[in-house]
Amino acid sequence: MSTVLDQIEQQIAKLSTKAVKKNTGNIRTIADGVAKIDGLSDVMYNEMVQFPGGAIGIALNLEESEVGCVILGDVSQLKEGDEVQTTGKLLSVPVGKALLGRVVDALGNPVDGKGPIDSKETYPVERIAPGIMARKSVNQPLFTGIMAIDSMIPIGRGQRELIIGDRGTGKTTIAIDTIINQAKINKVGLASDDAKFRPVYSIYVAIGQKSSNVVRTVAALEAAGALEFTIIVAATAADNPANQYIAPYSGAAIGEWFMENGMDALIVFDDLSKHAVAYRQISLILKRPSGREAYPGDVFYLHSRLLERAARLDGKGSLTALPIIETLAGDVSAYIPTNVISITDGQIFLETDLFNQGIRPAVSVGLSVSRVGSSAQIKATKQVGGKLKGELAQFRELAAFAQFGPDLDAKTKSQLERGARIVELFKQPAFSPSPIELQVSILFAMQKGFFDPIDAKKVVAAAASMKTFFTTRKDALLTEIRTKSALDKDIEAKLEAACNEWKSGYTA
Ligand SMILES: Nc1ncnc2c1ncn2[C@@H]1O[C@H](COP(=O)(O)OP(=O)(O)OP(=O)(O)O)[C@@H](O)[C@H]1O
Ligand SMILES: [Mg+2]
Repeated sequence: MSTVLDQIEQQIAKLSTKAVKKNTGNIRTIADGVAKIDGLSDVMYNEMVQFPGGAIGIALNLEESEVGCVILGDVSQLKEGDEVQTTGKLLSVPVGKALLGRVVDALGNPVDGKGPIDSKETYPVERIAPGIMARKSVNQPLFTGIMAIDSMIPIGRGQRELIIGDRGTGKTTIAIDTIINQAKINKVGLASDDAKFRPVYSIYVAIGQKSSNVVRTVAALEAAGALEFTIIVAATAADNPANQYIAPYSGAAIGEWFMENGMDALIVFDDLSKHAVAYRQISLILKRPSGREAYPGDVFYLHSRLLERAARLDGKGSLTALPIIETLAGDVSAYIPTNVISITDGQIFLETDLFNQGIRPAVSVGLSVSRVGSSAQIKATKQVGGKLKGELAQFRELAAFAQFGPDLDAKTKSQLERGARIVELFKQPAFSPSPIELQVSILFAMQKGFFDPIDAKKVVAAAASMKTFFTTRKDALLTEIRTKSALDKDIEAKLEAACNEWKSGYTA
């Protein structure tokens, strides 16, 4: 008997139970992609939590008795009482060049049906923005290919420039044009044997848009041959607010990988108005107190910690951000627009009136600014476009007065005529960005008065003819302007001769 007891005691002594610290909880309530969870006392802010069936949550509200989580993925199977586990990991997404040409969701999972993405690294979705010491001043240009922007509101690598305007004023088109232009420049640059050439990779984050819009955008990028340099992160209106809330941070993480690894990237957030609305929805369900315009009090912090991540890093690469904001009836003094204006380094303001008058892109010259980009502008553009902003401002003022009296002195008249032609020259169809050397040539021709004898209504056609002339016949000259990026006496003479040659062959 005693031996049996001894044996049992020995067995018990040998038994070692390893205590595993596992923090679990249960869903108390669940609605609209947001769950309140009991337990989970050790969860971190922004930690991933695991729901049954594979859905992932992010802990956002840490309270004494419960934890508020937003849920990414399929929520339809989840119910009250389900067990939830902490993972000890902050939310991260796959990063790297393997994502180029792909469409992914807010978690970096492919949604384009082109198979799995072979990426080896992940980056946390939320990161502390680089500090001032790590940053370098912005002095390399990022060409949008849009003449009105590159010549008057230039953007530099590492800058944050807001695109703001009412519904349907061409905001997305400007961003897509910029992405297409990067692809065009990349192709030329990578084919040349310029060892110093730095390609720009693009990330387009679609937030709360209709899926059909995203499909159209992807198709436009593909048609322009820009998809291979672009990553699309899509959280559409059909996705729950949690995905829309996370998507821009995921996109930023994907962009940071390029920056940290010595490359240049561009990120478009289309748009942050819908992002703020998604966040408001989440916050209302989490019962956070709401402030101005019913947005939660920390919505400013939400956008600033996102946009601060755009930077040019010393010894590394850069991340340029183009956030988009939709205004209501041109009201830039609403809460979200004023916030984002104050966070960015300038804005491209699009006006409905201009758009309806057929002035597209509908860039308002008076209200648009770039606070840091001019140090990134190339010398050639400064030489031909330095006075443009002033000339256009003067034109608007004079045009307003000229309505009242037809008898104008010769100087005013010529200023008006010139202004009207500049407005026409800046018209540019969607998805056809112009290389900077071509923009410089056209502006040179304008400054030298080559468009003055042409009827204002025919300037668009004349400029198109001149562009074709330069691209098909003056390739060497364009290349020279691009590589020297400044106009010397010799180039100016060649440009003038080329313009004369075009003029002799052009009949309006
Ligand atoms: N430069 C342009 N020339 C001609 N048409 C343009 C130009 N830019 C935009 N459009 C047209 O205007 C319409 C609206 O453009 P877009 O979708 O870019 O605007 P948006 O401000 O992003 O709109 P939303 O507020 O719906 O997002 C589109 O049909 C587009 O083709
Ligand atoms: Mg849009």
